[in-house]
Amino acid sequence: MVWLPTRCIALLFCCFSSVERPSVSNRNQKAELVVNASGGRQIPETFFGIFFEEINHAGAGGLWAELVSNRGFEAVRQNKSLNIHPWSLIGDESSIIVSTDRSSCFKRNKIALRMEVLCDGDTCPVGRVGVYNPGFWGMDIKQGKIYKIVFYLRSLTSVNISVSLTSSDGLRTLANTNLIASAGDVSNWTKMETLLEAEETNPNARLQLKTSKKGVMWIDQVSAIPLDTYKSHGFRNDLSEMIANLKPRFLRFPGGNFVGGDLLRNAFRWKDTVGPWEERPGHFNDAWNYWTDDGLGYFEFLQLSEDLGALPIWVFNNGMSNLGREKASNVSLFVQEALEGIEFAIGDPSSKWGSVRAAMRHPKPFDLRYVAVGNEECYSMEKNAYKENYPKFYDMIKRYYPNIKVISNCDESVDQLDHPTDLYDFHIYTNASDLFSKAHHFDHTSRSGPKVFVSEYAVSGKDGGTGSLLAALGEAGFLVGLERNSDVVAMVCYAPLFVNVHDRSWNPDAIVFNSNQAYGTPSYWLQHFFTDTSGAMLLNTTLLTNSSTPILASAIAQWNSNDNMCFLKVKVFPSCS
Ligand SMILES: *[C@@H]1O[C@H](CO)[C@@H](O)[C@H](O)[C@H]1NC(C)=O
Ligand SMILES: *[C@@H]1O[C@H](CO)[C@@H](O)[C@H](O)[C@H]1NC(C)=O
Ligand SMILES: *[C@@H]1O[C@H](CO)[C@@H](O)[C@H](O)[C@H]1NC(C)=O
Ligand SMILES: *[C@@H]1O[C@H](CO)[C@@H](O)[C@H](O)[C@H]1NC(C)=O
Ligand SMILES: *[C@@H]1O[C@H](CO)[C@@H](O)[C@H](O)[C@H]1NC(C)=O
Ligand SMILES: *[C@@H]1O[C@H](CO)[C@@H](O)[C@H](O)[C@H]1NC(C)=O
Ligand SMILES: *[C@@H]1O[C@H](CO)[C@@H](O)[C@H](O)[C@H]1NC(C)=O
Ligand SMILES: *[C@@H]1O[C@H](CO)[C@@H](O)[C@H](O)[C@H]1NC(C)=O
Repeated sequence: MVWLPTRCIALLFCCFSSVERPSVSNRNQKAELVVNASGGRQIPETFFGIFFEEINHAGAGGLWAELVSNRGFEAVRQNKSLNIHPWSLIGDESSIIVSTDRSSCFKRNKIALRMEVLCDGDTCPVGRVGVYNPGFWGMDIKQGKIYKIVFYLRSLTSVNISVSLTSSDGLRTLANTNLIASAGDVSNWTKMETLLEAEETNPNARLQLKTSKKGVMWIDQVSAIPLDTYKSHGFRNDLSEMIANLKPRFLRFPGGNFVGGDLLRNAFRWKDTVGPWEERPGHFNDAWNYWTDDGLGYFEFLQLSEDLGALPIWVFNNGMSNLGREKASNVSLFVQEALEGIEFAIGDPSSKWGSVRAAMRHPKPFDLRYVAVGNEECYSMEKNAYKENYPKFYDMIKRYYPNIKVISNCDESVDQLDHPTDLYDFHIYTNASDLFSKAHHFDHTSRSGPKVFVSEYAVSGKDGGTGSLLAALGEAGFLVGLERNSDVVAMVCYAPLFVNVHDRSWNPDAIVFNSNQAYGTPSYWLQHFFTDTSGAMLLNTTLLTNSSTPILASAIAQWNSNDNMCFLKVKVFPSCS
């Protein structure tokens, strides 16, 4: 193909690592890059994407805009000593007694909060007694914004419950309403719903449910979520905008180690994460050590992909827990579960699982084209078990869904990939100079075999810290290498995407946030710099240099059909070590 860019605008990006240590030899070095703007090879349209894992409270207490933590009191199923954590009492034991029991109206999440109020009217201390939830290290409440509060209630008597958003000490009320119901109305479980408009801003607020009426009541599935979310689908706006700005062409989810769980009973099982949020049981994310209510479930990941204009890449559980620690005795159940998950995403609304999706107001199939058979099991001592089970998934998926592309996590070079697959995972976390040199890792990879999916990469350790320019430069060299090898490397995404400053279980990360603020690390902005690589023309470049410092360079060109212009982007990165 001959491709002649006309009226190109040249963008030149250079970085010089030697600024801090100028030397005679550096000053004497010279480099010249010759770019042949005729011809070239197209980089895949789906080259740059993102990988979301539920790690570092990336979703619960992060991208997912739900403000209440442990909203169904189910976390007690995991750890009894945590009781109703992070819920706390307002009042003392002489005026209020709370406990949990299994009286909920929901089948899969039976735990409910039982609240017995002993005081009445003026005899109640601090005006009224009850419970509050501080969210995930404080709720972000903004003046003028509206919050939808939902909870389920059952009571032996009539109720007058004050529902409010307050400062972290409970002293300043940001929004309040009184919910009043007769005993007859709430003698059985009843859904209570109200909208609260905040009169003040407070990034460290809490939700309170209080009363001064003597009696016994049960509370379950308490939700507080801003009405204004990304595309009205429940995602936090600022964080969603940051990932949208990376123009991801795909979204790999939901993990990572989150997929398998350290124990299988703690794995992400998609069926428990779809349907009405109130009915989802939630589960303990033992890989990263926190409870998730699973409001951000399989459906929401598919929805987010669609909202971002990214293809979903679903990593499903293959019946092995993290690194093969534990295995299901009957893998065919997991094969079935994977097939049903695909049916949920793309099946006809009249199919069994397609109808569940349709009931969630998405009758149109999602654009699911890729699935991955687990995460990293082939890296472990259990690689033989993975290799034994893998064909069972592959064969059945290809039989029922021949167009779905399947991703193995056996690496061609390391694990002797010996089974059919469309793509295979490549993961790398290393220091800056090593990642920079890995630009050449795929130079000699077979061009006739399956494609490579670089589904996790980052400079980590001392060089990475909690985000550094050095890390970004190591990654830059690697990415230039991937651009140049994009005839065999089909897709690439960085990991991890998010970290909540209150739960740094992995460093560094691309986006750092607390309840109301977020910033991108150098690794985030480096990715941002590569967003226009997807689908661009890779031009042939020749570097002529007498420099002893390794230098990596690439040139890409792309049409903008809107103004019939093209741009040429040249990237030059010297090694920083
Ligand atoms: C590199 O080339 C430049 C220009 O030709 C020259 O001035 C310089 O001395 C050379 N440096 C080395 C280290 O050979
Ligand atoms: C530039 O690339 C075109 C197409 O591959 C080729 O025909 C031409 O000879 C190249 N020009 C130079 C100067 O290498
Ligand atoms: C339960 O939580 C408590 C408090 O965080 C902790 O000390 C304990 O180790 C946990 N137990 C289990 C079994 O996880
Ligand atoms: C509900 O409680 C509030 C606060 O104690 C009180 O002002 C209000 O009058 C009560 N409403 C009813 C109908 O009892
Ligand atoms: C209470 O509600 C549940 C669920 O809606 C229903 O199955 C049950 O029959 C109701 N009980 C009474 C006593 O009305
Ligand atoms: C495994 O599960 C399949 C599908 O449910 C079932 O037909 C089969 O009998 C099970 N095998 C064993 C050994 O439990
Ligand atoms: C970087 O990592 C590579 C590969 O593990 C190692 O050989 C090298 O010594 C490391 N370099 C530094 C500066 O730590
Ligand atoms: C790029 O240019 C070099 C030097 O002219 C040539 O050897 C190589 O084949 C070219 N590569 C492509 C893909 O055109």
